[in-house]
This record gives sequence, C-alpha cells and structure tokens, in this order.
Amino acid sequence: MSISGELRLDFRECVGAFATGVTVVTTHAQGQPAGMTLNSFTSVSLDPLLVLVSLAHATRTLEAVKSSNRFTVNVLHRNQRDVALAFAKPGAPFPEGYTVQDPHGFVVVRHALAILRCEVYGTHVAGDHDLVVGEVIDFEGSGGQPLIFHRGAFGGLDADALVPQGRVIGIHTASGW
Ligand SMILES: Cc1cc2nc3c(=O)[nH]c(=O)nc-3n(C[C@H](O)[C@H](O)[C@H](O)COP(=O)(O)O)c2cc1C
Repeated sequence: MSISGELRLDFRECVGAFATGVTVVTTHAQGQPAGMTLNSFTSVSLDPLLVLVSLAHATRTLEAVKSSNRFTVNVLHRNQRDVALAFAKPGAPFPEGYTVQDPHGFVVVRHALAILRCEVYGTHVAGDHDLVVGEVIDFEGSGGQPLIFHRGAFGGLDADALVPQGRVIGIHTASGW
C-alpha cells in the first residue's frame, strides 16, 4: 500500500502528541564522524543493558553505524536546541565543534545530559527505517533539564513536571522496574 502525503502528515501530527526527549546519535566509521538528531530512542532491557534507536534508511548515520558496529546516544540538555538543529540537516557537513572523540573512539556531544556508549546488539528492518538495538557498554549522566520535542517543536519541561534534583521518585521501586 502506498501512503499519501496527506496520510503521512496526519500520522506525524498524531504521533507528535507523544512528547520525547531529544538525542544525537553519533559514530565514527572509515575515519569520518557521523551523527544525527533522533527522538526515536528508548531503553529496552536491564539484563543485558539494551537501548533502541530507529534510523531512516536514507541517513548517513545508519550506514556509518552499520559499518562501525558501535554508536553513542547523547541526550541533549534543554539549552542544546542549536545542537539538535545542527545534526538534523541532511547532507550538511558533520558539525565538528559540538563533539569530541573519547580515547575509545566514541564520538561524544559536549555537555550532553546523558551519554550512552553502545555496541550494536542487533538490527531489524522496519519499513523505511532500521531498528538498531545497542548494548550499553558504558554510560554517564549529569543533572539538568532535558530538551523536549512535542508536536514538531522544541521546548522544556514545566517546573511542576521536573523531579527534584533529577532523582526518579518511585519508578525504580515499582514492580518490574
Ligand atoms: C527532533 C528531531 C528528531 C528526529 N528523529 C529522527 C529519528 O528518530 N530517526 C531518523 O531517522 N531521523 C530523525 N530525524 C531526522 C534526522 O536528524 C535527519 O534526517 C538528519 O539530517 C540525518 O543525518 P545524516 O544523513 O547525516 O545521518 C529527526 C530530526 C529532528 C529535528
């Protein structure tokens, strides 16, 4: 079934009701860094530690991740809207200034709220995207407010939605978490 432009727009508007954080997925392959803004990120498993990202077939980052077999998920801080925009330009040169390469070869976005270094655990073709599952081999996080993406726009959390000092209340003690 071919999907009309109107149906695509309606679908995007519908799923845009689901607010997410914003990440930049980075990697390094064949001597070149690659990276893209991505909001289709979720944690999947605690044993082993697995996360999932969904990368469009047209993206250079997917090719680079397939080649390097590793990637970094950089969760953006509320004040990193410029970073999100810089990594969302198809065909643009890699925005070097926002990143550093760590001693293990992972490309990391400076001042990101959280950084998860992953090795590819598996991939699954899903329509025009690949679902890439990563095994988290290292992670770090700092306190601060996240950048939010909702209905096609960037924003931040309202104060009453923020958890004090970045600590999760209750969820980690609830059944199954
Ligand atoms: C907020 C936001 C979220 C995005 N999320 C995704 C995503 O989950 N998957 C995807 O394939 N592209 C996503 N994109 C689009 C890519 O960032 C964009 O196509 C990028 O230019 C691809 O870069 P590359 O071709 O250099 O890899 C998103 C863009 C924005 C602005």
